[in-house]
Amino acid sequence: MSADSDTSTNTYSTRHTHSTHHSTHSIYSTHSIYSTHSIYSTHSIYSTHSIYSAQRGQHPVHPVHPAHPEHPETAVESVSRQETLVTVVGPFGLSVRDQALEADVQAGLTAVEEGLLEATKSEVPFITEAAQHLVRAGGKRFRPLLAMLAAQFGDPYAPGVVPSAVVVELTHLATLYHDDVMDEADVRRGVPSANSRWGNSVAVLTGDFLFARASHILADLGPEAVRIQAEAFERLVTGQILETAGPRDGRDPVDHYMDVLGGKTGSLIAVAGRFGAMMSGADETVVDVLTQYGERLGVAFQLADDVLDIASDSHESGKTPGTDLREGIPTMPVLRLRERVERLGLAEDIALSELLASDLTDDARHAEALARLRVHPALDQARRDTVRYAQDARATLAPLPECDAKAALVELCDAVVHRAG
Ligand code: IPE
Ligand code: IPE
Ligand code: MG
Ligand code: MG
Repeated sequence: MSADSDTSTNTYSTRHTHSTHHSTHSIYSTHSIYSTHSIYSTHSIYSTHSIYSAQRGQHPVHPVHPAHPEHPETAVESVSRQETLVTVVGPFGLSVRDQALEADVQAGLTAVEEGLLEATKSEVPFITEAAQHLVRAGGKRFRPLLAMLAAQFGDPYAPGVVPSAVVVELTHLATLYHDDVMDEADVRRGVPSANSRWGNSVAVLTGDFLFARASHILADLGPEAVRIQAEAFERLVTGQILETAGPRDGRDPVDHYMDVLGGKTGSLIAVAGRFGAMMSGADETVVDVLTQYGERLGVAFQLADDVLDIASDSHESGKTPGTDLREGIPTMPVLRLRERVERLGLAEDIALSELLASDLTDDARHAEALARLRVHPALDQARRDTVRYAQDARATLAPLPECDAKAALVELCDAVVHRAG
């Protein structure tokens, strides 16, 4: 789809009311990290921390930030939430009942944010601009959030915790630059994708730059961390290639697809859980549990993303709906539809399946396919698949000691399934 089509323009103007699609530098001038889509805008990050950090002493590693003057409402939100003792962590909207836990996690996420901006600076201003393009656009920071929660099982202030979360988010970010080239996506995090703004070469090279910076930080975390990241990265790329290649003859398409998801998404989210726990010095058994939890949660996360590609609006997801359909990538809802065709042979299902197999670069056909899939039982089945994997993730937590961080990880399973973007 072209960058200035109706859909992407709508997406952009809805999510970023102060900027327009065509104003070259508007993102940077009107959207600081504190702006509409930043992780700080809707949550009680600074105020809660400043109130509760005293209970645990000053945070030895993570910087503490004052409430941002542009967002006095955060203080109001914090007061009302104190009464119920339920606070909201991060952009992901995770609620936790323990204020000290929230303060730790929020301070960690703040430090990660600084680390991301630092790691994306180059001597060449254009590289900084391109590399910070998506950092400043926002994003859920789901992987750093998981790393911070995992670090609660050891010393959350240990020096490797924040850098390891930065490494994971930088790696994720780099894959987004590359993924949007592969998927020919125009919009990402509510702003034009790097490829639509600067072309494929810049997008690919900026992704490479981000990988380089991630490696640089990783080097200081030791050879084991480097090995873990290398193995995950290999799995991630293998997953992407398997998705492109499709199942080999005789392989069940759903089984193939689950392999793809474990590779392209589960692998890195597993590293987030693993690094958080490992860098905090948690017991080896805890590290293993959180690695497995991350892997399964990551698969659920990607299944949810597949459903959202069909079901969500662009202002919620920050992406163009139906990108997978347009690219002809058979994600779980489409695979479940095909299974139904095999099983029931209903004319209506066959017609939709044929429509999905046709050239969906045609806007009218694409819109029709999307509308029909949105109300199809196959989409509900994909939702049930998502719930099942999230429940699996939750079950892996059983051996962990009961604590607020565990409760938050349990809740994260629901949050992944029920997220809107
Ligand atoms: C998008 O990841 C790619 C997937 C693995 C589904 P996120 O949904 O975490 O994207 P951001 O970081 O919030 O933009
Ligand atoms: C992306 O998968 C996975 C990675 C970036 C490794 P998708 O193509 O489904 O992600 P979105 O929907 O573009 O974010
Ligand atoms: Mg994509
Ligand atoms: Mg997707």
